[in-house]
Amino acid sequence: MRALPFPLRTLARLGRRRAGERATEARALRQWVSGLWLCAGMVLGLPAEQARAATTPEKVVRLSHVVAPETPKGRMATRFQELVAQASDGRIRVEVYPDSQLYGDDDEMEALQLGAVEILAPSLSKLGAAGVPEFDVFDLPFLFDTLSQVRCVTQGPIGQRLLDSLARQQMVGLGFLDNGFKQMSAQRPLREVADFRGLRLRIQSSRVLAAQMKALGAHPVVLPFGETRRALAEGVVDGAENPLSNFLTQGLAPVQRVITLTDHGYLGYAVVTNPRFWARLDPADRALLQRALQQALAEGNAQAAALNAQALATLKQTAGVRVVGLSAPQRVALRRAVQPVQADFARRVGAPLLRDVTNQCLQPR
Ligand code: LMR
Repeated sequence: MRALPFPLRTLARLGRRRAGERATEARALRQWVSGLWLCAGMVLGLPAEQARAATTPEKVVRLSHVVAPETPKGRMATRFQELVAQASDGRIRVEVYPDSQLYGDDDEMEALQLGAVEILAPSLSKLGAAGVPEFDVFDLPFLFDTLSQVRCVTQGPIGQRLLDSLARQQMVGLGFLDNGFKQMSAQRPLREVADFRGLRLRIQSSRVLAAQMKALGAHPVVLPFGETRRALAEGVVDGAENPLSNFLTQGLAPVQRVITLTDHGYLGYAVVTNPRFWARLDPADRALLQRALQQALAEGNAQAAALNAQALATLKQTAGVRVVGLSAPQRVALRRAVQPVQADFARRVGAPLLRDVTNQCLQPR
């Protein structure tokens, strides 16, 4: 078999490498692309320094994530990249690696600790699993009914306290981003507790989500996001829970016949960085990145609900997939079935946090 040329070989390998190895290959690929641009600039008649200045940034910031570019997180990452390029005049380049191209759920946290990537935006569920159990509050089923209740938590003093708590696991928390509410999917409607019995349902690595599925009579199966579609296609798992923007962009429609609109839980993200990287930045660059990120997050939060609504409209028109709702009594029964999970996890999440969330953000105003 003929060997692939270097850049294709590298791209093919990225998916199979572990943290340190992938970073080295990605760096080599970046240098190769930069060299290519330099040659192109020279062919076009630009002096070497000018071509290099236009193409070689002083600083590269790698942002890795696991979802598709056309999702709330993917869009936010691209917007952050644009805003940083504009504000720094190309001096700082944010490289965005979507779709688990660089790191997946299994190795992205390790990569951040090793300095092989500078910014991640893991789901809040994954932060609970990474040793900051306060973040499990976001996984509690049927705790939040609306996005404005979630925002009251994430955009206020409770959210800041949560971001600060990430320091315990050597992360700097920079802000929150919504995806939205999760919907159940399988080969049949999941409207009654009995419908869940015996199903193997993919979850993120979260004790709360495991308890939620068990309370419904299903078997939780922890799988990295990037492996979920294949596991569904091969029948390793029978169903999953996802916001619809993730369901659509992962191409789950051909492998899941029915989406049940359960809105049973929230999925959002925290943008996190490596404290050593953050501390070493020039203060003006840190402020620039911070401003660009806050703007990208604000715009992303303003668009997330619309992206999920668009995904719903698309999925309703998609042949082969059925979208069904819950009646009010069905919703009450599902909520009742998972109610013990809240009590069971109150200690892990922390009673004061749960009390503040409830008193400050869940009470009718
Ligand atoms: C999942 O694993 O289902 C999500 O965390 C994916 C994501 O980042 O939205």
